Amino acid sequence: MKKIVILISGRGSNMEALIAARDAGNLPVDIAAVISNRPDAKGLETASKAGIATHYIDHKAFAGREAFDAALAECIDGFVPDLVVLAGFMRILSEGFVRHYEGRLMNIHPSLLPSFPGLHTHQRALEEGVRIHGCTVHFVTPTLDHGPVIIQAAIPVLDGDDEDALSARVLRQEHLIYPQAVRWFAEGRLTLEGARVRLSAELDGRAALISPLLR
Ligand code: GAR
Repeated sequence: MKKIVILISGRGSNMEALIAARDAGNLPVDIAAVISNRPDAKGLETASKAGIATHYIDHKAFAGREAFDAALAECIDGFVPDLVVLAGFMRILSEGFVRHYEGRLMNIHPSLLPSFPGLHTHQRALEEGVRIHGCTVHFVTPTLDHGPVIIQAAIPVLDGDDEDALSARVLRQEHLIYPQAVRWFAEGRLTLEGARVRLSAELDGRAALISPLLR
């Protein structure tokens, strides 16, 4: 079974969705550890209650990005994961760190990338007046919120939407597509071909967790 390490910075609802999918038998992975850069991340408590090893490495205790990333990588590598899952991990990662995990570092972002990388994605989507918004799971490259797309979910922006309403609807989709993406990885179905991700056919004929139309 593939081993994953999840990195968080706060609430950890995507992490919870991964744990729930695993517990429901829909995600055949061993969640070896949850690591936060913030000691007070609420998700650490949730993970610990679920019986998962937790760690925090406070980025404020390090002189620079490289030093923090080196300590983080050492902690991660202690678990020998097949995949590192960024689930609301709000730190820019150094190029060396990203290269070290090339092809085995996934991120979820609350927009239809390449639109709206960075922060305040829902507010910016409303300001731009886009009609379709959503979320993306992608392999990570050294460029912020960029990389080969594994899965996206799109939702309509409704006339009465404010930032809270829109982010809540996108978050519900995040909780569906992240377990799906990690499951595809765990099943060995994802192949990187340059800037694109190819999804191979199911080997055992079971239906995907969610509609392939969302891919
Ligand atoms: C999620 O919406 C995730 O997509 C976003 O942070 C939130 C974390 O929520 N990530 C990014 O913006 C990465 N650029 P969670 O802690 O409840 O999973």
